[in-house]
Amino acid sequence: MAFSMARRMEVLRASEIRELLKITGRPEVISFAGGLPAPETFPVREMGEAVERLLAEHGAAAMQYSTTEGHPPLRAKIADRTNATAGTRFTAEDVLITSGSQQGLDLTGKIFLDDGDDVLCESPTYLGAINAFRAYGPRFVEVPTDDDGMITQELDERVRRCPRAKLIYVVPDFQNPTGRCWSVERRRGLLDVARRHGLPVIEDAPYRELRFEGKSRPPLVALDADDLVVHLGTFSKIFAPGLRVAWLVAPRALLDKYVLVKQGADLHTSTFTQMAIDTYLDRFDIDAAIGRIRALYRTRRDLMVRAMEASFPPEVSFTRPAGGLFLWAELAKGVNARALLDRSLGRDVAFVPGGSFFPNGGHENTMRLNYSNMPADRIEEGIRRLAAMLAEARSGEPAAVAS
Ligand SMILES: Cc1ncc(COP(=O)(O)O)c(C=O)c1O
Repeated sequence: MAFSMARRMEVLRASEIRELLKITGRPEVISFAGGLPAPETFPVREMGEAVERLLAEHGAAAMQYSTTEGHPPLRAKIADRTNATAGTRFTAEDVLITSGSQQGLDLTGKIFLDDGDDVLCESPTYLGAINAFRAYGPRFVEVPTDDDGMITQELDERVRRCPRAKLIYVVPDFQNPTGRCWSVERRRGLLDVARRHGLPVIEDAPYRELRFEGKSRPPLVALDADDLVVHLGTFSKIFAPGLRVAWLVAPRALLDKYVLVKQGADLHTSTFTQMAIDTYLDRFDIDAAIGRIRALYRTRRDLMVRAMEASFPPEVSFTRPAGGLFLWAELAKGVNARALLDRSLGRDVAFVPGGSFFPNGGHENTMRLNYSNMPADRIEEGIRRLAAMLAEARSGEPAAVAS
């Protein structure tokens, strides 16, 4: 039966990454495609202990409905951790627990966006945000971005030209897909533009605590004196993504709106998983665990960067991220990364063609490479195979040349 569906379904597409992950699940594939954390970092034994204790001491409460805002002790711990790492002064009441940051993005679209509104974002930007917002029918206005982040003047010019600008969406720390981290000056510049135009800023910060080197930079929410910023954090990349527990910090009046729409979406995030994480945090040292994740990813980043420096053709440029899970490569102008992917899947290597991260298309000569999920020998072997294919593309073999 062909049912008549809502208009929004016409613009929704399956995420290319989700589709790609179906292929890359095969054990022989060396995958630089997903954004998967390293599974060996998951606190499986510790969570076993935490869950056992939770069930023994608060089993019934953990299985009961709870408030939309989230488990109060967990909200308090998140406020404390944010304050400790960002120098802010939040309390539990400033925090809403969400079912992944992805839900925070969807709720943002629901609150702010009508058909034809404008979302300003980095160029490129996070594919999951494009997909979440797209359901609400906005136009995406891509703002030119360099190694220091979104270029303030370019943002200002675009906002002036967009009477229907509704929000600015950014990932300032080790962005997905580029791995870039914004300078403090650009962070202040963005807030200045947002304040002058009265626009909310959605700061998506899943990688903020995954810095390998250098000094951490204040999140936008810590620099915001005007109640402009909605800050999204998550346990996905510092703990485990399968639990689907994340959070959102926002000015109170705005937080109330998020609570309202979350009620309609899922009543609340799983009581059980919230309480299990809370029990873990009481009994174990998450900061030590995050330290181990950082050390592992730093080694993998080093390996990938070194292998690329040694074997990629000189015209390929790429980022050297100081944190996070991804690096970003720009290939020679005529090389099409989607065609290259078709070929590399045949040699059991996967990555995400960068064009997917530009909501308005183009930039087909770019690619995103993930280094967190593959062990050392597979990173080296995967880069070796990719380098060989890039050399072939360079010599004009048809499959990887733009069509
Ligand atoms: C920038 C960004 N935002 C949000 C998410 C989604 O995170 P979560 O697992 O908390 O839904 C991701 C996941 O990769 C991401 O890279």
